[in-house]
Amino acid sequence: MTSTATDLVVAAWPDCSPRLLRPSQRGVEEYADYVRSGGYRSLKDADALLEQVDLSGLLGRGGAAFPLATKLRTVRDAGRRGAETVVVANGEEGEPASVKDRWLLRHRPHLVLDGLRLATTVVSATRAYVYVSDERSAAAVTDALAELEPAVFEGVSVTVVTVEPGYVAGEETAAVRRINGGPAKPTDKPPRPFEEGVLGLSTMVSNVETLANLPYILEHGAEGFRAVGTPMSPGTFLATITGAGRPPALYEIPHGAAFSDLLKVHGVSADSVRGALMGGYFAGLVNTDILDATLDHETIRRLGSGLGCGAISILTDDCPVAVAASVMAYFDRENAGQCGSCFNGTAAMSAVTSALRDGVAADEDLARLERWSVVLRGRGACGTLDGATNIAASLLRQFPQVIARHLAGDCPSCRSGPFLAKRPYEAEAMAQS
Ligand SMILES: Cc1cc2nc3c(=O)[nH]c(=O)nc-3n(C[C@H](O)[C@H](O)[C@H](O)COP(=O)(O)O)c2cc1C
Ligand code: SF4
Repeated sequence: MTSTATDLVVAAWPDCSPRLLRPSQRGVEEYADYVRSGGYRSLKDADALLEQVDLSGLLGRGGAAFPLATKLRTVRDAGRRGAETVVVANGEEGEPASVKDRWLLRHRPHLVLDGLRLATTVVSATRAYVYVSDERSAAAVTDALAELEPAVFEGVSVTVVTVEPGYVAGEETAAVRRINGGPAKPTDKPPRPFEEGVLGLSTMVSNVETLANLPYILEHGAEGFRAVGTPMSPGTFLATITGAGRPPALYEIPHGAAFSDLLKVHGVSADSVRGALMGGYFAGLVNTDILDATLDHETIRRLGSGLGCGAISILTDDCPVAVAASVMAYFDRENAGQCGSCFNGTAAMSAVTSALRDGVAADEDLARLERWSVVLRGRGACGTLDGATNIAASLLRQFPQVIARHLAGDCPSCRSGPFLAKRPYEAEAMAQS
């Protein structure tokens, strides 16, 4: 993989009108243009919108694919019991292989704010936060807020909170802790933010892409939202595509689209594909089974992986063992160092995958890696260790022949120069858009 900076390709999907992307949008979409295209339409009945969100089946786009309607209802009900409520639009985007949230915030801040407005209305929030680490995103959202009539967020204070970028900084309890004035490091759960979040109040943390779907649902209803996608993965998703020696790209893909079609759109020959790194760095590796897959939660889960935040790195020339070693080293560096199991576990798994890449691992090392990939799952305050165990388990399960070649010290890809990326497939570094 080369990491020469290039433009980000932003493109619509064939025969699917984009709902979130504006492929021709170069600068920031202005308030007047957003309103002209139907934005900030009045919300007459917040409960009716919640009903439509429920029927739409909209799932969170931050990684866990949790139903948005469930979150909205839980926080709304806390408000009805008399508590103040809070909504956080999570645009931190700590996944190096993802740029979709930054693109939305930089280019369509009003779409995100409109979604935030609708969410705050449904849960009767009095406070809202846009949580970001990217300076351009923060500037675009701050300017967009200044353009708004006070009536748009009537009774709601909206604050932009910035944070140093980091893999764990976007985890929901880290976001809450940072907004409360602490470090952007995760805390033990429970309590979850909906139980005790910003200022101790019931707080809904939602990814900015998730929120950006709300104006579409308000305008087109659940049925319109479900017009594309699959019954279990309705609608479209923003996919950051890296790897395969191609410039990084952002597509708005209808769930259920064939991976083979993605290869065609992205200009990659199926014959060259060895597999994919899924969900940014989080959801592990998939071998060539990905070639016959469709891009929806149910299918990718059946492959033992996940769509996560929608970032997919296509592996062609890069050796899966070397990619796993780079990602594991990243987890070892970027974990928050708070939990012994994570701090020590990522270091140990990183040492073994690096030794495997370098052709100096033994069978016993692999046996230990396999054991750790099982026993360390679910440990630690946040999901980082799960990301690391996903990489280990998927490498062992999906690429036994490549591993055998490494044990024999005979990997043709690694022999031609090891892949030692500090942040493999880092989309932002590859793109200047
Ligand atoms: C280590 C870690 C990092 C995360 N980083 C992000 C992030 O950068 N942005 C994000 O929206 N969600 C991130 N999440 C998920 C959030 O915790 C949370 O589930 C999400 O913001 C909820 O939004 P959604 O329901 O709309 O997906 C991360 C989770 C983990 C475990
Ligand atoms: S699990 Fe790892 S990354 Fe998460 S809080 Fe603990 S040490 Fe930090």
